[in-house]
Order: sequence, then C-alpha cells, then structure tokens
Amino acid sequence: MMKKLLILSNLPTKNTEILLYETQKGAKSIESNNIKILACDAREVDHNHILDSAGIIIGTTENLGYMSGIIKDFFDRNYYHCIDKTNGMPYAIYIRAGHDGTGTEVNIKRIITGLKWKEVQKPLILKGSWNDNFKDQCFHLGATIAAGLDANIY
Ligand SMILES: Cc1cc2nc3c(=O)[nH]c(=O)nc-3n(C[C@H](O)[C@H](O)[C@H](O)COP(=O)(O)O)c2cc1C
Repeated sequence: MMKKLLILSNLPTKNTEILLYETQKGAKSIESNNIKILACDAREVDHNHILDSAGIIIGTTENLGYMSGIIKDFFDRNYYHCIDKTNGMPYAIYIRAGHDGTGTEVNIKRIITGLKWKEVQKPLILKGSWNDNFKDQCFHLGATIAAGLDANIY
C-alpha cells in the first residue's frame, strides 16, 4: 500500500528552504515505489494531509525560545482534527536555532504528547551559524524516516 510521508516547515529564510529541500531529497533518495513524499510550507498543510499520512517530519526555527509562530499555528489549526485519529503516528523534528533549540524541543514534544504521536528519531537540532553540514544531516533524516516507513519498522 502506498504510504505518504509529509515534511513541513516554516520557511523564513533561504537556509530554511534549503533544509526542507534536503530533507525531501533524502526521503526521495530511497527510491521506493511505496512511499510518496509531500514537502511543503507548514501554512499549506491542513488536517486532511495529516490524516492521509503515514509519517511526518516537522521542521521549525527557534524564535524567542519557542517554535516559530507558523508551526504553533500548524498545531493550533490541526490539533483537534487529529486527536485520537493519529495515535502512534511516526514523527521526527528538526530545529534550526541560532544558539539554543531546547525550548522548541520541549514545547513541541509537549503538544505531541497530547496527540500520542511516536518519536522515531531524536530531534535534530541545527544550531549556531550556518554550516553546510546541516544539509547532510537533513538529507540523512529524510532518508532514515522514509526507509523506516518503507520497511514497516515503525
Ligand atoms: C525574532 C527572532 C527570534 C529568535 N530567537 C531565537 C532563540 O530564542 N533561540 C535561538 O537559538 N535562535 C533564535 N533565533 C535565530 C533563528 O533561529 C535563526 O535566525 C533561524 O533559524 C534562521 O537561521 P538561518 O539564517 O540559518 O536561516 C531567532 C531569530 C529571530 C528572527
């Protein structure tokens, strides 16, 4: 059966666009006929996309010690449409932070605890000034989650 992997992020900068692109590229690199990848701006995602997905990767910047407003809005819009319908949803997050990232991690996990989604990879925190290595880390994250879905290990 075809499974969909949804990858979403806020995209305030060119670098955050690159991270989303690399995550998508990694997911596509496994070249499975069973996995369909949808990578998009978090503002375009609604609950139908989530309910239709077998796994989710969420990217966000850390802003003022918290997830970006766009990612908070993503949860605000979709939380009650998903609750009890997406239990066990495999998910992973990546966080682009200037210097920290922990406030974002803690608070996303707090929301996701309510949704009962399943963390299948430790959060990827990309912090400090831009490093081209972030691209490889996102590529690897995308490939890992897509391969896990493809192999039914979640
Ligand atoms: C309004 C604002 C608040 C921010 N607050 C934080 C913060 O609390 N912690 C942190 O680590 N980075 C913070 N940053 C840095 C952003 O996470 C960083 O600019 C973003 O990830 C984009 O990085 P990039 O220039 O590589 O695209 C903030 C940036 C902005 C614009």
